[in-house]
Amino acid sequence: MAKNVNNNYNYKSDFPILNQKIRGKPLVYLDSASTSQKPANVIASEKEFYEHYNANIHRGVHYLSEKATQMYEDAREKTAKFVEAKSEEIVFVRGATEGINLIAATFGEQNVKSGDTILITEMEHHSNLVPWQQLAARKKAKLEFVEINTDGTLNLNDAAAKLEKQPAIFSFTHVSNVLGTINPVEKLTKMAKKRGVSVVLDAAQSAPHLPLNFATIGADFAAFSGHKMLSPTGIGAVYGKREHLENMPPYQTGGHMIKTVTKQTATWNDVPWKFEAGTSNIAGAVGLGAAIEYLEKIGMKKVERYNAELVSYCLEELQKLPFVTIYGPLENRCGVVSFNVGDMHSHDVSSILDEEGIAIRSGHHCCQPLMETLGVTATCRASFHIYNTMEDVDKLVNGLKKCKKVFKL
Ligand SMILES: Cc1ncc(COP(=O)(O)O)c(C=O)c1O
Repeated sequence: MAKNVNNNYNYKSDFPILNQKIRGKPLVYLDSASTSQKPANVIASEKEFYEHYNANIHRGVHYLSEKATQMYEDAREKTAKFVEAKSEEIVFVRGATEGINLIAATFGEQNVKSGDTILITEMEHHSNLVPWQQLAARKKAKLEFVEINTDGTLNLNDAAAKLEKQPAIFSFTHVSNVLGTINPVEKLTKMAKKRGVSVVLDAAQSAPHLPLNFATIGADFAAFSGHKMLSPTGIGAVYGKREHLENMPPYQTGGHMIKTVTKQTATWNDVPWKFEAGTSNIAGAVGLGAAIEYLEKIGMKKVERYNAELVSYCLEELQKLPFVTIYGPLENRCGVVSFNVGDMHSHDVSSILDEEGIAIRSGHHCCQPLMETLGVTATCRASFHIYNTMEDVDKLVNGLKKCKKVFKL
């Protein structure tokens, strides 16, 4: 039976998509680490934008263009405040993937030399791995990995030893999208900074659940995706320290990111617009602003606490099932619970749960090297957001008991 949770409001009712049946059963959405659902105010904000304010930004001097520009820049202000940054330090991008590619192709291109090392960790998503592989190949640099411990935490001694060798860049995830591990981000950043190492933070899985303060974390850059934190898809942000953004070359070139253009040359716009070539996802940014408003109304401390309660209840219940193997630490984790059921393939588990209206993710979660380290090819993953309840966890557990019966485990 589900425990009583310190949460007296049913957030589920704010999310229209959750009020439906899938295969005749009420939808239990446990795939928010892939993409979260959107509350009604976010959906309404996009609709309102297109019905009343749609125009291109920063260009026209007509009313709609000025209004759309103001809404887009207001969204930047809200995003900056959400992560305790200045608005000129926030560049709108499609999401964390584009953000990390931007950082690697500009700051990385400028600062990594032949023979240098780029340090990442064994728990990175492909988005925080492949762009660095590509940069390392272009620059004839080396890519090194901080190891993980058997409990799925980061090996801090290994991090210290590898940072001692002064890599050019240390890029790591705040929260693992497979293990749920919350890395000690301020400690790691301090360790890197003491040795003059530039830090890039993948905040894709932390921005949805944890209060973030980029000013105190001290990383040089961070990237996150709006769609994992209740906003529309196709919008996210790069945070970069102003002096870096000023000194970096542009990522893409063309309209909007220029100050002046002659037949042969061009000069660049001020930051952050220098990095926003072409027409931006204006409605998406407005939607991100609305998602931030929704999260801030609840309060990120409460979002964090509620998520921690859901995750620990899920871990507690899964530990009672002897046929389930859990991956990642049992404490100090966030957002996701990865597991396997006997020797069943995760896709089969997912299909059986789907018959019960339960949506989980199965597969390698864009972390193939981490799967190799864990000695598996795939896992099941249940992930949570504010709209999930303890009853959702109970339904997951019942679904897994059905898997046990079907596969005679
Ligand atoms: C840790 C982590 N980093 C980066 C990404 C990439 O995010 P996006 O696909 O929104 O660009 C994800 C997505 O799952 C992720 O979990």
